[in-house]
Amino acid sequence: MDARAIIAGLRKGQVPSDAALEWFAQGLASGAVTDAQAGAFAMAVCLQGLGEEGRIGLTRAMRDSGDVLKWDMPGPVLDKHSTGGVGDCVSLVLAPALAACGVYVPMVSGRGLGHTGGTLDKMEAIPGVGTSVTEARLREITASVGCAIVSATGRIAPADKRLYAIRDVTGTVESVDLITASILSKKLAAGLEGLVLDVKCGSGAFMKTAAEAQALAEALVSAANGAGCPTAAFITDMDEPLAPSLGNAVEVAASMEVLSGNRLAAPRLHDLTVALGGRLLALAGHVEGEGEEMISAAISDGRAIEHFARMVAELGGPPDMADDWRTHLPAAPVVGDVMAPEGGYLAAIDGEALGLAVVDLGGGRRVETDRIDPAVGLTDVISLGSEVTKGQPLATIHARDEASAEAAAKAVLAALTIGDAAPEAMPLIRARVG
Ligand code: URA
Repeated sequence: MDARAIIAGLRKGQVPSDAALEWFAQGLASGAVTDAQAGAFAMAVCLQGLGEEGRIGLTRAMRDSGDVLKWDMPGPVLDKHSTGGVGDCVSLVLAPALAACGVYVPMVSGRGLGHTGGTLDKMEAIPGVGTSVTEARLREITASVGCAIVSATGRIAPADKRLYAIRDVTGTVESVDLITASILSKKLAAGLEGLVLDVKCGSGAFMKTAAEAQALAEALVSAANGAGCPTAAFITDMDEPLAPSLGNAVEVAASMEVLSGNRLAAPRLHDLTVALGGRLLALAGHVEGEGEEMISAAISDGRAIEHFARMVAELGGPPDMADDWRTHLPAAPVVGDVMAPEGGYLAAIDGEALGLAVVDLGGGRRVETDRIDPAVGLTDVISLGSEVTKGQPLATIHARDEASAEAAAKAVLAALTIGDAAPEAMPLIRARVG
């Protein structure tokens, strides 16, 4: 095999064989493929596309470039992946709820990307929690608690780690083929028996249009199923934040409210968690509708929060998170409301701008080496379509200092459009694939 021949073939529109893709992925992991070759490969895929067979081949090849976990558990091994949005803390509620239903969830997660928050950053907002664990520890926690939200070890899909960094600096991130193989290689390396994908669509998502979200959802579902993992996707609305809180500790707080049975604290977060969990349990063999009831019951009877607290304790956090979470979460010193400058209806929310306001408060990263401030963020963001009166709070800012609070207030006002009428309400689940 020869990287030059693979790249030249791709340039002319020839999809590499499975064996060639496997060789290339192994070369990415070992260093035998150079940065220049990896960049040219990514650009050729961006321009020519791989088609369904090639996408499946690249997904499998990148998955197999490192360790692929194998499980022998008394229940199904399942997971969820979201393409990223704002106020999206489903993982924190869903993983323990599934565990309470007898599912095993080795949830290998990511950090914040661009304007979107990262599950690992949220988990690490809980004092003492560390999500970098060995594979042995991931196995132990998954077996004993039922769920473990952790970061990928260097041995999970190393080809993706290298290719992703090269795509980032070669203008080749936006390819459905490369995004599909990248996301799935890491998820499928966890040895899953079922996966549900939450493809976000709207102002706070990477995919702004329904057509883009549909294309990505279809590619992900066909590649995951083709690679042997039963998978379905929802395309879900991200024209407003999923929870009314954006940031790290504040999203943990929203998740703890929902896990405490307080659905009204974040109804969209609760309802999407139940729907995604229900779909996963259906993939694992439960009859339609049964899974949703199981997830709802696990939340309302306290089993889900108890599993969450046990996972937190195993990851180094406080032992009494279920009871005393309010005292454990860090609080920002400056807290203040943003007031409506006029009356009307909340006609539009620029979710990306809200997410970037949180990044600027210190709640996310501009560059990889930035340190996150876990306490800052926004809470009580009013929902799309709400009627507002002049002077009414639109959101609450949690900041490290007055200057960053003032800048955030301006950014929040710029991100919210008050108009004469409420927009047409979008369903939370816009479409289903698979
Ligand atoms: N997330 C990933 O893991 N990979 C991509 O390519 C895009 C988003």
